Order: sequence, then structure tokens, then C-alpha cells
Amino acid sequence: MDHFQLIDGALHCEAVPLSRIVQEVGTPVYVYSRATLERHARVFREALSGLPRTHVAFAIKANPNIAVLKVLQKQGFGADIVSGGEMKRALAAGMDARDIVFSGVGKTREELSAALEAGVGQFNIELEEEGVVLAALAHAMGKTADAVLRVNPDVDAGTHAKISTGKKENKFGVPIDEAPGIFARLSSLPGLNLRGLALHIGSQIFDLGPIEAAYGKVGAVMADLRAAGHSIDRIDLGGGLGVPYERDKVPPSPADYGAMVERATRGWDVDLYFEPGRVIVGNAGVLLTRVIWVKPGAVRPFVIVDAAMNDLARPAMYDAWHDFEAVAPTGEHMEANIAGPVCESGDTFALARQIDAVKAGDLAVFRTAGAYGATMASTYNSRALVPEVLVDGGRYAIVADRIAPETIIAAERVPDFLAD
Ligand code: LLP
Repeated sequence: MDHFQLIDGALHCEAVPLSRIVQEVGTPVYVYSRATLERHARVFREALSGLPRTHVAFAIKANPNIAVLKVLQKQGFGADIVSGGEMKRALAAGMDARDIVFSGVGKTREELSAALEAGVGQFNIELEEEGVVLAALAHAMGKTADAVLRVNPDVDAGTHAKISTGKKENKFGVPIDEAPGIFARLSSLPGLNLRGLALHIGSQIFDLGPIEAAYGKVGAVMADLRAAGHSIDRIDLGGGLGVPYERDKVPPSPADYGAMVERATRGWDVDLYFEPGRVIVGNAGVLLTRVIWVKPGAVRPFVIVDAAMNDLARPAMYDAWHDFEAVAPTGEHMEANIAGPVCESGDTFALARQIDAVKAGDLAVFRTAGAYGATMASTYNSRALVPEVLVDGGRYAIVADRIAPETIIAAERVPDFLAD
């Protein structure tokens, strides 16, 4: 459920007509609903309420805007980060460093040191050497790093290949059969408090079966480690829950997921960590755009909008579906291809799609764009970096400016050796 709805024939975010935002900010622009973010945070938390000890770390990569992070921080969420930049965002949003989980397969020594300095609450170790380096850095600083070892359970999440992370050929985690040996070696190092295990098998997952199988495999490693005398008090179960991009394709609900977790982790006696991203922010955002032309095509018309693949990369990258709706629908429909202005055919949002009838100048939205939308934007074709707006009831605020090409050009220079 979200808070984007038609009121008197015009699409609103909460109580704000989207056309009003366009008057001030222009298009394209991302628009987020605070009430939807809060609802999703609450639903996710409630889904876990049957579990004894839980910690939710929002996967910042899904939507790193600091206003969005602030909304989630107020809901008691911590952050799952994968870079020093994301750590700065989490701290800027007022998140406690102890509530931050540092994931990622390529953390640099500088990033590890900065995270130790800040007091990050959990490091998810991806390879033995990283654990050795982290322990040495922490020891030299007179600190102890709380950490878990990420296991690659070799389970197919059944999602798009580019966002599948838990198969043995993927770059993530240590091979499950090597995990006990690596754990044993790392756990003896000074500077490191290795408390448990982590996993994350992919994103936009629609079938809880593979997730449950992966949890079972990690549970078995945990039992082996305990039998060998190691104490385990934390397991990080990752993120990955899918969202409905298409109305007739409904993923498992957070409540279904929570019930599965209860079943899969019964008797584990650990703190359970979660790293949801998409399910919290996905349908809390839309990309608002204006139709530039309706261009006749050989087979069907092209609706050319002023948003492009640089603003919303998911269709070009993963053939992802985003619903397209007119801001002031007439009730008429048309079949069209929807494309942006960027000069490649991959800049296509939809092919042969039944959509609300639109004409040049009309406003429209791409739905479910709150996750992996603005965060993946670029300035390709020297387009502006897309701005973001957060709505709260009847008011709204610009929470990220449009970065004009002039500003980007100002960071570039022609060197002396090219001077005329
Ligand atoms: N934890 C880890 C270690 C991750 O790598 C990810 C996502 C998450 C948590 C959050 O997963 P979520 O709950 O959002 O599924 N750009 C792609 C998605 C990439 C996901 C990367 N990792 C897309 O637009 O579909």
C-alpha cells in the first residue's frame, strides 16, 4: 500500500498534487511519501515482532537520500552500508554508529579505519584476508571490531542474474564449506570479536523457499561452530524481499517473511540482524516526468518523456518493469513504447505497453521508483542530476537539488598543455 492516489482526477502524493511540485521543481523529479516510508518501516517491524532479539539496518544503497534516512532513523532503523560515503550519510541522518552494519566485498583499508574510528557496530567480513586486516587495524587502534563472517550458501535466489548474490560463482561471501575453518582462524585474532555469520542471496526475491533453504544452511554452520566450542550470538539474515512492480505479480508479504524467519530460526538464541532495502522504499517513490512528444512509430507511437535511463536505470539494466500512469488520466488508453531522450535504444522504459492516453506536455509517473532509482542516477548525455522531493501530508520539501550541467562542468578543467 502506498500514498499516491487520484484525488478529484489528479494524482497526489499524500495531500499534495504532483502538478504543484512540478510548478516549483520542474521535471524529471523523484517524489517520496513520508507516510508510505513510515508505513513500510512499521509493517516490517511488526512482521518481526514474534522474534526475540532483532535489529533492522536499512540497506542505504536502495535510497541514500539523507531525508529518507532521517525518516527511517526516527523509526528506529539502523543502516547497512557498503562504502565510506554511505557511512557519512547514515551519520549525517543521525544514526548511531553502533546501529550501522558495514557490508561489501571491497572495503578499503581507509574505509575500514574510518568505520572503526566512528565505532561502527558490525563488520560483515567477506574474505579471510579482510578479517586479518580488520583485526590488525582495530588492534593497532586499541579497539575490538564486532564482526560476522558472510557465508555464500550456494543457493539460487531465482531472481535476475545481475542481482543474485548467493550462488557459489558470485563474488560474495566465503564458500560455505570453508566457513568453519576461516571462522576458527579469524576468531583467535586480537582486535576482532567474531560473533556470528551473515548471508544475503539476492534482491527482488519472490520465492521464500530459497531464502529459507539458505537460512537452514547457515544454521547448520552455526551449529557446527558451536559444537566446536565457538560462541555465536548474532546472525545477519540480509535483505532481498521483492516488491510488486506489476500489479498482478504479488511477492510474499513481510508477514509471510517474518513467519518463515520464525520457523527457520527457532531455537537459534541469537540477535537476528536484517538488511531490507527495496521493500521499505520501493513503492514510497515515483519518478515524475513530462511527455515531450508523442512520436509516430512504424508499429506504434513512442511516448518520449523527459526522464531517461540516466534518471532511472532499472529498465535499461535489468529489463525492469515500472508502471506508467498519467498524472491527470482521461480514462482513455493507448498502446505505446515509452522512451527517454538519451541517444541509445536501451533508453526505453516500456515496449508495446497499454498505458493511459497521453499527449505532449502531459505529466506522468513511473511507479515504484523509490528503491534503486535516484541512487543509480547519472549525468549521462550531460543531463542534470535528477532532484528529489519528500512529501509529508500537505507539505513538501526539496531534499536533493537538481544538479545542473554547469555545476558538473565547473568541476572539470582543460589542462595547461591543451591551452590554445
Ligand atoms: N544487504 C546486502 C548485502 C545487499 O547487497 C543488498 C542489495 C541488500 C542488503 C538489500 O537488498 P534489498 O532488500 O533491497 O533487495 N540495483 C538493483 C538491486 C541491487 C541490490 C544490491 N544489494 C535493482 O535495481 O534491482
